[in-house]
Formats: sequence, structure tokens, C-alpha cells
Amino acid sequence: MNVGIKGFGAYAPENVVDNAYFESFLETSDEWISKMTGIKERRWAGEDEDTTDLAYKASVKAIEDAGIEANDIDMIIVATSTGEYPFPTVGNMLQNRLGISKVASMDQLAACSGFMYGLINAKQFVQSGDYKNILVVGVDKLSKITDMTDRSTAILFGDGAGAAVVSEVSEGRGILSYELGSDGSGGEYLYLNPDNGKIFMNGREVFKFAVRIMGEASNRAVEKAGLQSEDVDMFIPHQANIRIMESARERLGIPKEKMSVSVDKFGNTSAASIPLSIAQELENNRIKDDDVLVFVGFGGGLTWGAITLKWGK
Ligand code: UT7
Repeated sequence: MNVGIKGFGAYAPENVVDNAYFESFLETSDEWISKMTGIKERRWAGEDEDTTDLAYKASVKAIEDAGIEANDIDMIIVATSTGEYPFPTVGNMLQNRLGISKVASMDQLAACSGFMYGLINAKQFVQSGDYKNILVVGVDKLSKITDMTDRSTAILFGDGAGAAVVSEVSEGRGILSYELGSDGSGGEYLYLNPDNGKIFMNGREVFKFAVRIMGEASNRAVEKAGLQSEDVDMFIPHQANIRIMESARERLGIPKEKMSVSVDKFGNTSAASIPLSIAQELENNRIKDDDVLVFVGFGGGLTWGAITLKWGK
């Protein structure tokens, strides 16, 4: 059975925060942020819009795009690190908001690699024949766990959501290969600090890990699909830092114009970053049916995940 993405949608909050905003309270500059990260602006949700609201808005679009009704969804998997509560999960609350009766719903945590983990989990359930249409959401409201007094992280993060309906798709399309991994020995480099409820990051160490793992995992996923880098139509990496993304692109041997870049507009939105980039490329007609896409994420844990997918229903 070929399992892929039958419907897709994303949502970013309205409120745009530019780099200049940080100059008023941190020793930083638009120039430093742009040059060192590629970020120009990010979106922050207000008090009245929490993680489940973001997830809901992306999900409605994905369900509509799939041409199904909410009631046709038979499982919800939400990848997030920023749920309102440990329980009920965002998945539980989203199920209620969507008015879907009694289906399984859960959150799963793999930080910025979450959407990759979610897609692959969903693939197994669909492939087993036990489930038909699984709503996979990558959502994060990082603004609520960002330490605004720490200039090395405050400038990086943003809020957003993306959703995919994972179902059987036509022959030859869908997920061709994947690799998921983790290395708990690097957990100390990036974590949610229980003392203040904010993100702690050793940027240098995460940077080194990211450059290596993004290239390696993408290459392995392409190889597992029996493809070469020339066969890849679009490379969609986790939008953490343009310098990390560029170096992964070079390791994979993909030309510049085939890499999706949305980090300039949204910053690092963790589990939402790959979906927001997919949405941008769909909107710009840069993804067509039968295009070969490579997604690759990395993040806290440390975790990673790469997927090769042939686009289309
Ligand atoms: O989703 C996964 C999570 N995270 C990431 O992917 C982030 C990975 N890491 C990074 O993107 C980079 O490490 C950063 C952008 C956070 C920092 O870049 P870097 O090249 O690793 O710089 P650095 O941490 O070595 O810092 C270089 C200098 C330091 O000053 P000194 O010690 O050389 O005087 C920092 O204090 O840059 C300083 N710095 C800043 N300066 C102006 C750090 N943040 C800022 C800032 N504005 N916002």
C-alpha cells in the first residue's frame, strides 16, 4: 500500500515581529540576526490564541484539502512541545474542537523533529489497514516557552501550525523511505528548563549536531528510496538557521533553488517549520504532483527524522 499526504494545510498567526523589535531590550541588531540566522521576522500568537487554536486552524484546511469530512478522520497525532497541558493533550482538545466522535487522539514529543515522527507513526497505522485517514499536526507556540532575556534564543523562535491527512495514495506516490533517530546523550544541549519553564540551548553544540545529522539523514533517506540527489525536486529542511540549512543542502548536493526557505518569514517554529515551508511552496506552485520531496528535521532530544516522499494523492 502507498501511504502519503491526501490533504494539507498550515496556519501562522497574524502578528509579525521583526528583528528591530529585539533591539529595544536586548543587545542585538537586525544585521546580526539576519546574517547569523537568516531570520527577518517571525509570527507570535497573542494571549487569545494558544497551541490548540493554531492546530485547529491548520487542521480545518487540511481536512478540506483532502476532500473529506472531519468525521472521516479516524486518528489524530499531534507533534508538539507546547501543549496547553500534559493532559488533556492538544490531540484530545483538537478532537473535541473538530467535533470528531471518539477517535484515538494523542500528542507525541520529538521537539523539532516531531512532524517527521508523526508522519511515520501515521504511515504505520494506515499501512496496517487498521486506520484510513490520520490527521497529523505539527504545531508549536514557542513564544510562551522562550526566554526573552536570552539574546541567543529569543530571536530564533516563532509560532505556527501545519497539518496533513495521511492516507492511502495512488501507486508510486507517498512516503518512499524514511529514517528516524535519536541520541539522548545530547539532551543537555537543548531542553525545556523546569526551573523557569523556558528553552535552554547550547547553540554551538546544536549547530554542529544539526549540520552533520541533516546531511547524513537526508542522504540515507534518499539512498533508501533508491534515488540520487539529482532526483530530488525540493529539499525542505527544518527551518532553524539558514547557515545550517545551506550546509545540509550542500552535503546532499542539491542546487540552491531546490531548497525551501521560509525561516526568513517565520523563524524557527519547531514542529511547525517543515509544514509551514511545504505550505509556502504549494502556494508558490513550486510543488507539483509526482515531485520528489525530501523533508529533514532535527531538534531537542536530540532527535532527527528524514523522509523521501513523492507528492500527490
Ligand atoms: O530547532 C533546533 C534548535 N536550535 C537551533 O537550530 C539553533 C542552532 N544554533 C544556532 O543557530 C546558532 O548557534 C546561533 C544563531 C544561536 C548562534 O550562532 P553561533 O554562530 O553559534 O554564535 P555563538 O553562539 O558562538 O556566538 C557568537 C557571538 C557570541 O559573542 P562572543 O562570546 O563571541 O562575544 C554571542 O554572545 O554572538 C553573540 N550572540 C549575539 N550577538 C548579537 C549570540 N546571540 C546574539 C544576538 N545578537 N542575538
